[in-house]
Amino acid sequence: MFSGIQPTGTSHLGNYLGALRWWVDFQDRYDALYCVVDLHALTIPGDPEELSKATLTTASLLLAAGLDPSRCILFVQSHVHQHAELTWLLECTASMGELNRMTQWKDKAAKGGEESARVGLFAYPVLMAADILLYDTDLVPVGDDQRQHLELTRDLAQRWNTRYGDTFTIPNAVIAPAGGGARIMDLQDPLRKMSKSSGSDAGIIYLLDDPDVIERKVKRAVTDLDPPGPGAVRWDPDEKPGVSNLLEILAALRGGKPEEIAAGYENYGKLKADAADAVIEMLRPLQERYREYAQDPGSVQAILADGASRASDIASRTYERARSAIGLLPR
Ligand code: TYM
Repeated sequence: MFSGIQPTGTSHLGNYLGALRWWVDFQDRYDALYCVVDLHALTIPGDPEELSKATLTTASLLLAAGLDPSRCILFVQSHVHQHAELTWLLECTASMGELNRMTQWKDKAAKGGEESARVGLFAYPVLMAADILLYDTDLVPVGDDQRQHLELTRDLAQRWNTRYGDTFTIPNAVIAPAGGGARIMDLQDPLRKMSKSSGSDAGIIYLLDDPDVIERKVKRAVTDLDPPGPGAVRWDPDEKPGVSNLLEILAALRGGKPEEIAAGYENYGKLKADAADAVIEMLRPLQERYREYAQDPGSVQAILADGASRASDIASRTYERARSAIGLLPR
C-alpha cells in the first residue's frame, strides 16, 4: 500500500477524513508506505523556507494522527531520488493529450493562466504515478479527487508493461463510498471540495485550528434557508450540499451513515454544534501529540531518515528493473 500527501500549508479535515484516518487503520493490515510529497509542492509558487517547515509539520501531523514507524514506512519524497528518475522514464511514455485531460490541471491552469503555469504542474500526475509504481503497490488509499490520477497511473503502467515487458504492478485506488468522507466540501462553498488552494480559510478546518476557531467555522457553515422541522436535515448532496457535508463529517467521525444520522435532527443549529464537537474531540489528542513532536523535531527527522532508507531499498530495485526494461545501459 502506498499513499502521499502534499506539504502545502497545514493539512485539513478533508485530508484527514478522506485519507489519513484510513492510512492509520491500514498500517496494520498491509505493508504500507506513506510519503510527504515535497516535490509535488514545487508545482505551485511557494517560499523555500516555508516548504521545509511545512514538510516537517506535515510529517509530525501524520505521526500525531497515529502513523507508527514500527508499523509503516514514513518518508519524504525528495529523500528517495528514484521518484524523480522514474518520473522521467514515465514522462517518455505519457502523452500530452492524456495529461491535458486531467481535470486538476485544467482547473489550476484555468485559474492562473496556462501560459504561466509550471511545466511541473502539467507533469504532476506522472510524478504521482512514479511514486506509486516504485513500490509494486497494489492499493492506494486516496480521496475522491485523486481518482483520475489513479486511472492515469494504471494506464501508464499497463502501456509500459505492454511495450517493455512486465515491470510494474497495476495499482488500485481505495476510495470510501459516497457519504464516507472521500469528498469533504468547503464549509463556505459546499459545491467545492475543501482544499488547501482555496482562496479563503473560513471554509477550511485545519488540523491545528483551536477549538474556538473550529466552533466558529462550523457555526458559520453555509447551509440553506429551509425552515426547521422534520425533513429539513436530510442527506441530499445535490439539493442540500451544505447540510449533507455536515452530516458526512459527523458520520465519518461518530460512525454510521449520514442518512441515518440525519433522522436525529430537525434544525441546523444542533447539527452544527454536534459536528463541531465531534471535530474538536477528534482533534484534541491529535493536537496534543503534535505539540510533543513539534518540540522534538530531531526525533521526527530521525524517523524520516530511517523511512527513506527503507523506502530506498524497495525503490532502487524497481527503478533498476525499469531502467533495464527500457534499454538504458547497465551501470
Ligand atoms: P493532497 O495533498 O491534496 O491530499 C492528500 C489526501 O487527502 C485527500 N483529500 C481529500 N479527501 C476528502 N475530501 C477532501 N476535501 C480532500 N482533499 C484532499 C486526497 O484525495 C489525498 O488522498 N496528488 C496527491 C498526493 C500524492 C499521492 C501520490 C497520493 C502524490 N503522490 C501517490 C497517492 C499516491 C495530492 O495532492 O493529495
